[in-house]
Amino acid sequence: MTSTLGRTVLAFTEQPPVRKVFTDTRPGRALSTRFVAGETLDDAVAAALGLDRRGARVSLDHLGEHVSDRSQAESARDDYLACLDRIGVEGIDGNISVKLTQLGLGTDDGLAAESLAALAARAREIGTSVSVDMEESELTEATVTMFERVQAVHGNLGLAVQAYLRRTPRDLDRIIAAGGHVRLCKGAYAEPPDLAYQSRAEVNAAFDRLTRLVMGNGRIYPAIATHDDERIAVATELGRSRTKGWEFQMLYGVRTKLQEELLASGHKLRVYVPYGSAWYPYLTRRLAERPANLWFFLRAAASR
Ligand code: FDA
Repeated sequence: MTSTLGRTVLAFTEQPPVRKVFTDTRPGRALSTRFVAGETLDDAVAAALGLDRRGARVSLDHLGEHVSDRSQAESARDDYLACLDRIGVEGIDGNISVKLTQLGLGTDDGLAAESLAALAARAREIGTSVSVDMEESELTEATVTMFERVQAVHGNLGLAVQAYLRRTPRDLDRIIAAGGHVRLCKGAYAEPPDLAYQSRAEVNAAFDRLTRLVMGNGRIYPAIATHDDERIAVATELGRSRTKGWEFQMLYGVRTKLQEELLASGHKLRVYVPYGSAWYPYLTRRLAERPANLWFFLRAAASR
């Protein structure tokens, strides 16, 4: 969900000179380490093992999106295959999260579908699953359709849905029919009013309605992905009467004390651990969600 200030942050951070300040200066890179585990698979594995010791599951996200050619898409697939192999070797209680535009959706849809299937097959060999992130609204239909096709063959996929999108209840009908896990989040992109709720109150109400819907359905495994106390309270209450499993999900570096509290009170929690050198678009979405994060950067930059 992106507020007016958040939209301004997104527009500001998309400017090439601003991007350069973030990626080429020490304060900019330091801010990224608050939300990103590091640039290498070893960094991600170290973060995952630390979380594992605290009782959290993980979902490893090798950052990247909107690749422009086939070789970039193939290399993203290979990076994820290596990531799955490490999850297996290290015995980490985790899976991977992928963006379909990173696997070639939009440039070579056939390759993206083949790669998603290859990841699902490798994940099955090590006894885990693949979560598909949800990206901008122009990709929602293609993402749900590709999820349905690959899930019908492999059965170990999950899909993120965005509460701010007006179409999400209809997409959920399709996802429930396909089975798998569903990650319910508010939505992180700037979307127009005809497609997405704009006010915080509307998005929160939609989130609670969808929480009720997924918690009440036995065909899917719900993951409630939020750091919002009120949404967490609603999910906790609805979760009490659910006989099948479910979990909370949160982002690496966001509300870590709350993460500890949920684990201490016996909740299942999966932490989404992003890593890799393509961290800039991910960072801008975290800044847009909480523009106050920008001040950490500006203060650090000013003190240099
Ligand atoms: P909200 O934004 O209202 O935040 C609640 C509180 O959490 C804030 O008051 C603040 O204290 C804290 N907080 C939230 N974000 C913060 C930040 N960046 N820095 C510091 N504090 C912060 N989106 C999407 O479009 N597609 C996807 O596939 C995913 N995947 C995904 C996976 C997981 C595991 C999570 C947790 C989230 C996503 N998202 C996502 C992002 C999601 O849509 C949403 O933008 C963020 O989670 C922020 O929304 P909250 O529900 O946390 O509420």
